[in-house]
Amino acid sequence: MRVLVTGGAGYIGSVVVEKLLEDNHFVVAYDNLIKGHKAAVAAGATLVEAELSDKAGLTAALREHRVEAVIHMAADSLVGESVTAPAKYYRNNVVAGLALLDAMRECEVNRLVFSSTAAVYGEPEKQPIEERDVLQPTNPYGESKLAFEKALRWYDQAYNLRYATLRYFNAAGATETHGESHDPETHLIPLVLQAAAGRREFVEIYGTDYPTRDGTCVRDYIHVGDLARAHILALGKVDGGSRIYNLGCGGDGYTVREVIEVARQVTGRDVPVRESKRRAGDPAVLVASSARIKEELGWSPVQGDLREIIGSAWSWMQRHENGYEE
Ligand code: UFG
Repeated sequence: MRVLVTGGAGYIGSVVVEKLLEDNHFVVAYDNLIKGHKAAVAAGATLVEAELSDKAGLTAALREHRVEAVIHMAADSLVGESVTAPAKYYRNNVVAGLALLDAMRECEVNRLVFSSTAAVYGEPEKQPIEERDVLQPTNPYGESKLAFEKALRWYDQAYNLRYATLRYFNAAGATETHGESHDPETHLIPLVLQAAAGRREFVEIYGTDYPTRDGTCVRDYIHVGDLARAHILALGKVDGGSRIYNLGCGGDGYTVREVIEVARQVTGRDVPVRESKRRAGDPAVLVASSARIKEELGWSPVQGDLREIIGSAWSWMQRHENGYEE
């Protein structure tokens, strides 16, 4: 298929591009390169450097490359930032997203895979979280993703847009060629590995008084390669009808302390920690039920082991000390 990936130069987007190319799809990475990296776009893909809000640019890219499907990953995605800058989140995640949907309508492209988030559930009442559970975001990031999810439902009904919404839990790890390089970095696993590498003095543990097995937050970490494969499976099924899936590894998840301990074992290095207060907006536990995507698409994680996830991130980081070095 001929696929346009918005955010295709980002952390997860670059891996989706890599996997699409492996499966012999034709790929256009559409990215403004504000957070993405040119060097993260695999050589076989065409990079279009433009804004998501630029409907004319989108229409031109869709037409020129005869695009048949879109994977929409371009977004702002930091919970904390969204609380202080909600306008940015509504503008980039909702308004600019609608420009994409309108460009797709104009060009008669009616297949979409959309990157959503566990943040649409807010502070869940039960674990593991199922797709039909209450949607009650506790921050503008989750709200903006949910607003777009809801728009998709009505675009489907009125304009025959077929979509698959994927609600990611905690993406982590790296492939041989693509890994995580954010500035500033806020995610737990890369921060822990930077501490292990001696590139930061310590990693902070945000909150030790949560009602969990060791007092720290539990998250469901999923290897970025497994996440990428789910997009390709979803794309293959989307003509059969729109759908929504959680994407995580399930089980008991891992606490912050467990992640740090596994990182110590995998790297053989010390990871200095400092315990601090809770970070605003962090739910105690977020663990996915991925039963639906397993049943309907036959997806299951092949790199679900946290050692493997952290090991892959560590080896990528050692090979890319300065990220993508632009
Ligand atoms: N944490 C620390 N210290 C740090 C960084 C994080 O203790 O320096 C903790 C957080 O409090 C949280 C856990 O580690 O409990 C994971 O934090 P991340 O920042 O790595 O990830 P989040 O769970 O906050 O968020 C990620 C994505 C969001 C998405 C969410 C869905 O960044 O976009 O997963 O689960 F919405």
